[in-house]
Amino acid sequence: MRPASSLLDTYSPAAGLPPLAGITDFANAARRGLSVEECVNRHKRHHWALRRLHEIFINRLTAEPLYELKMVFSLHAHLCAEHVAALRERVAEMREPPLGLDAAPSAALDVFFDEVLAAPDTAALVLGVYELALPALVAGLRRYQLDTNRLVDNPSWRVNRFALIEVEEMASYGEAAVKALVTTERRAELQGWLALLRGLLVQAGSLDGVDGGGGGVPERMFSGKAPVYDGTPRRDERFPDPYNMGVHAEVFLYDEAMPTLPKTLMLYYKRLREIDVPEMMASILAESAGKPWDYRRDMTRQLWDEARHAMMGEVGFVQAGVDWRRFVRVNFTWSLALNTQLKPLERHAVLYYIEQGLMPKTGKRYEWETAIASGESYAATIQDFDWADEVLHARIGRDWYVKAMGDPKRAIDYGDECWSRVLIDWRSYITAGHTRHENWWPATYGEWCRVQGAEPDAKVLAYDTSYEASRADLKDLSASA
Ligand SMILES: [Fe+2]
Ligand SMILES: [Fe+2]
Ligand SMILES: [Fe+2]
Repeated sequence: MRPASSLLDTYSPAAGLPPLAGITDFANAARRGLSVEECVNRHKRHHWALRRLHEIFINRLTAEPLYELKMVFSLHAHLCAEHVAALRERVAEMREPPLGLDAAPSAALDVFFDEVLAAPDTAALVLGVYELALPALVAGLRRYQLDTNRLVDNPSWRVNRFALIEVEEMASYGEAAVKALVTTERRAELQGWLALLRGLLVQAGSLDGVDGGGGGVPERMFSGKAPVYDGTPRRDERFPDPYNMGVHAEVFLYDEAMPTLPKTLMLYYKRLREIDVPEMMASILAESAGKPWDYRRDMTRQLWDEARHAMMGEVGFVQAGVDWRRFVRVNFTWSLALNTQLKPLERHAVLYYIEQGLMPKTGKRYEWETAIASGESYAATIQDFDWADEVLHARIGRDWYVKAMGDPKRAIDYGDECWSRVLIDWRSYITAGHTRHENWWPATYGEWCRVQGAEPDAKVLAYDTSYEASRADLKDLSASA
């Protein structure tokens, strides 16, 4: 209730300065706003929604064939993880432990997210996440900002303000994704499910729990049985030969006799091939229950970096005028082998082992120097950041993998051991009819020369080394990282 003071209308700060540190005016600051109890309850709802969304993005990323969705799920999982962390911190500022952040704040809301996680196909998933969940989260965060007292609850207001920037961006990407991916027919088929989802939100009293809601046991449609996690990577039609290991990128890159300029193409390939790292890291996260949130946050940040590296490679080809979809064969043999042959900790061990091998003179530094020497400014920029990102990834590896192993030497040895146990069998992929390991390099290089109006270099054009022979020597280089 507005205080019965007319001073509110006439009161002003000294020297014509904005009121109350610029946060709000006196009339607004004098409102009751929300109680700490109400704030914490809403934060917990938003926290749970972001956490479940993170889980959904992570669990669906690897088996989702569409490359663009893999990339955006990587980003959106990262953003969710960051805002989950911020909300956890804020709740911990307001309440003594136990904070109750690891239990669902509403059964109906939890079933809502179980259903979205169990969405039977990409169209349903996109509808659940982007047409229902994210707009409901935006509405909850906006309502909080209107209801709370901006002065007394300023730390929350600030946390939500930053969350809103990114959650609104996610929702607006999602709006476009729904338009692009959901046909009228599919939407019609899913009508019953969409109504169930809307009903669950009503039963939950809206996502933020403010609208009361109803009792009763929430109904399920697709999530009656908990969905089985699918860690088998899938790719769309721009990846028509996913077992192809016909072009040994590292042998070419390290060949001093080869000119540096065409090496940039091989760097773009290596970057684009990094799609397999989010595919693999998502499986570690999906199959490692009970880890602290900081683990999930760190691992998801690295996962997003790896997705960025893939897109950096994609941009590299596009800006060089080479339509990689027609010429380059990007494989998934690494993520497929690790996800299907190793346990989560063993996968992390391999990742750590490979990334350790990237930091010495011959790894990321060499790639960056090659890019600089080529004179291609775009290649230099991406290699600069690809290298810099490894500094963070090494820290994440030390904090979570090495600590779990107890000792750095054991951590490295175990990574080596796990990596040598992985069967990526060049020849059996042929016998099984998966691939013929076609050498896609001459056509790719030829196209690049054609676009540049340059005469192909006979030595570069003749490059024909696959991952068959040099695998033993370069086993620590034969995967992307
Ligand atoms: Fe990278
Ligand atoms: Fe990395
Ligand atoms: Fe990487």
